[in-house]
This record gives sequence, C-alpha cells and structure tokens, in this order.
Amino acid sequence: GFHMDGFEQRKDSIEQPTTSESDMYKQPFVIGVAGGAASGKTAVCDMIIQQLHDQRVVLVNQDSFYHSLSEEELTRVQDFNFDHPDAFDTEQLLCVMDKLKHGEAVDIPKYDFKTYKSDVLRRVNPSDVIILEGILAFHDPRVRELMNMKIFVDTDADVRLARRIRRDTNEKSRDIGAVLDQYSKFVKPAFDDFILPTKKYADIIIPRGGDNHVAIDLIVQHIRTKLGQHDLCKIYPNLYVIQSTFQI
Ligand code: ADP
Ligand code: C5P
Repeated sequence: GFHMDGFEQRKDSIEQPTTSESDMYKQPFVIGVAGGAASGKTAVCDMIIQQLHDQRVVLVNQDSFYHSLSEEELTRVQDFNFDHPDAFDTEQLLCVMDKLKHGEAVDIPKYDFKTYKSDVLRRVNPSDVIILEGILAFHDPRVRELMNMKIFVDTDADVRLARRIRRDTNEKSRDIGAVLDQYSKFVKPAFDDFILPTKKYADIIIPRGGDNHVAIDLIVQHIRTKLGQHDLCKIYPNLYVIQSTFQI
C-alpha cells in the first residue's frame, strides 16, 4: 500500500476516537417528558419545539404505542386500563427510539382514541433533538437510558382532572360519567402506583406545565448549550476520517 514517511509518526501521536465514541458524538439529544395525563406535557413540548425552531426536532408520543384493542376487548372498553404499563407496546417503542437515536428514519403508528386502534404510519426522519412524551415515558429502564434529559411535568390532580373532563368530553366525544368512572377506577390509582414513582428519575420537575415560562427558557438554554457541545465534538471524528484516507 501507499506509505508516507512522517505521517506514520503523526498517526501514532494522535489519539484516535473509538467507533463507539465517535458514534456517541453524532447521536441526537434525547429528551423525555413524563407526568400525569392532562398535566401539560404536550404544551411543554410544543413550547420547547417552538423555541428550538432553528433545530431539527422530532416529537414522539408514547400514545402511538398503545396496543390496538381486539373486537372482543372493544365490547368492554370500560374495563381496559389505559394507564397501566402493559397497555403499551414498549418493545416497539424501544426499537423506534433506538433507531432514531442512531440517526435512522422510522415509521411510527398513529393511534386513534376514538377507534382504540393504530393502523396508519407516519414517517419520522432523523433529527438533532428527539422528544419522547408520555405518562409512562420513564417507566422502562431501557427507554430511560436513551434519554439525555428527563423532565417531569408536575400539575395538581384537580387541575389534571378538570382539564381531562373538558378534553375527553370535547375532543374524544366521551360521556362525562364514563370519564369520571375511568378516572377513579384506573387513572388515579395508576398515577399513584406507576407514574408518580418515576418522578425520582427526573432531572427537572416543572410545576404548572406550560404556564412556567421561566422553566421552559432554562431548559431550552441548556439544550442549546448541549447541542453546541455536540457540534464541536462532531468535528473530531471528521478530522479522523480525513486522517484515515492518508493511512492507506
Ligand atoms: P398532556 O399532554 O400532559 O396530556 P396537554 O398539554 O395535552 O397535556 O394538556 C391537556 C389539556 O389541558 C389540553 O386540552 C390543553 O389544551 C389544556 N392545557 C394544557 N396546558 C394548559 C394551561 N397552561 N392552561 C390551560 N389549559 C391547558
Ligand atoms: O395525552 P395523555 O398523556 O393525557 O394520554 C394518556 C391518557 O389517555 C391516559 O390517562 C389514558 O387513560 C387515556 N387514554 C384513553 N383512551 C385510550 C387511550 C388512552 O382515555 N384509548
């Protein structure tokens, strides 16, 4: 092969990053947003995305990974616990998040709250920032491990219930009696048993959700700082590529 005297020396003196290190530098910044239903998670994500308009940001909803109900299950939908971790296809969520983290495009299901099924897919391209939002986003340790920043939206239970009644009766055309029954039977117990215990994994706890502009500003500033660091680090593996073309 081609050999350059002197270059050999430089090759030895420069510390070369391992593949895993250079991969890490190129990986997108993953933010997890958890909290009770109707706590304002979506509102917080929308505000972060708005402020990061100059970056490539993608939002993934844990809702997209609800198991579709069978015809038999549909006949007794009021008995189904949508707030339990088993209601979600976490293996599929993990697979999607892993691909996005490694810069691959993915197809994500769209869940329909009226039919209780997901069939259509939406194509999601690789991005610099990936936000995963959902009531149980911090439940699975493997999903948590993919996150660079974890935010818990902390809104009082009465505010969450009031918003939920308004949202489910207006947007999901549900009966108020059914909403209240579901809340006391499943939503409240699951919040206490599965959602609240994941608050301890949060790096940041936002009181009052989307109303908390100071918290959103601080979070966006931090993300920008981290993205800047990512960009600097990206230069290093690039330099390595140039070097290796001379090392034939
Ligand atoms: P989540 O994603 O946690 O379920 P959303 O952000 O979708 O919560 O908010 C739930 C409902 O409450 C929505 O109908 C939304 O319009 C409303 N909502 C969210 N934040 C506020 C707020 N700060 N003030 C008033 N209503 C809000
Ligand atoms: O968007 P949000 O985080 O509020 O969505 C989670 C809530 O959606 C859960 O509390 C769950 O009870 C509710 N849900 C529902 N019907 C479905 C699926 C989820 O009411 N088919």
